[in-house]
Amino acid sequence: MKRRFLLGASALAATLGLTGLAQAQDLPPLEQKDSYTVGFAQSESNNPWRIAETKSFQDTAATCGWNLIVTDAGGSAAKQVADVDSMIAQGIDVLFLPPREESPLIPAVMRAKAAGIPTFLVDRSVDPNVAQAGRDYVAFLGSDFVDQGRRAAEYMMENFEGEQGLIIQLEGTTGSSPANDRKSGFDEAIAGNDKFQLLESRSGDFARDEGRQVMETLLQAHPDVNIVYAHNDEMAIGAIQALEAAGRKPGEDVFVYSIDGTRDALQAIIDGKMEVTVESSPFFGPLACETMKRYAAGETIEPWVKVEDRIFTAENAAEHIDEAY
Ligand code: AHR
Repeated sequence: MKRRFLLGASALAATLGLTGLAQAQDLPPLEQKDSYTVGFAQSESNNPWRIAETKSFQDTAATCGWNLIVTDAGGSAAKQVADVDSMIAQGIDVLFLPPREESPLIPAVMRAKAAGIPTFLVDRSVDPNVAQAGRDYVAFLGSDFVDQGRRAAEYMMENFEGEQGLIIQLEGTTGSSPANDRKSGFDEAIAGNDKFQLLESRSGDFARDEGRQVMETLLQAHPDVNIVYAHNDEMAIGAIQALEAAGRKPGEDVFVYSIDGTRDALQAIIDGKMEVTVESSPFFGPLACETMKRYAAGETIEPWVKVEDRIFTAENAAEHIDEAY
């Protein structure tokens, strides 16, 4: 993620000979006022992470002066595009968008810019080879997904005590930035380490039930698996259910590594069924408010407003479960 953003920004500056300020001037301006009509086009609401993210925007609305319009695309990129188009037609002042996948939402981002609406991508990004922060949208607010995958791999490599780690990877939504980046971060970290072998990597679409079903299938093909790396906690919990239904013992003969920090994942860590979850915070409301206000005040916003993530293990899961979602 970091590399892709830096390349995008510097390539753009080199090509156009622009400073950061000039790039920002190319974007739609935002006037300072007491209240704004704000669109938040959610991609789906099928897991606790998405629900917590939407709630964070709703909880922030009153204090930030937002008249907030929230839509739910129900897991369809086409519906999310239509939702953004509808918000543009309604005359929103600002758009906050977590693009479900990297490519299909780009036309909607471009139309928002053409309509004079500053857009902030939150949590997920778009293909930086096509649309870029500082030119097509104001900024990306979110985690370093490559680093999350790398940290899950590093924790696994430091703590796995077996002789040979045989891994099944459950990927997130195909074509989404977290799935692409969490895979590359993990795969690059284990490359060249002979102790670990990736048996198979398949999408569970970031969903618990799909994670469970994919794990059931892959368990039959790879009964020797002893590690599961899931791109989010919902799929990790689904995998644990599949493992237990097959008579396996998560935490004893199969070790589960994941990303997010949901309440169910922290409970699974406390119960000894999951090793780690690298945090990926869904609480974007306050950061979105602060960044929007900085932009309205005329500040040039950095292309990537980065969220720092913690890591939850058996050492601190109990301490943090009450703040989890
Ligand atoms: O984009 C962030 C990911 O999307 C979260 O890890 C996942 O739970 C959500 O669906």
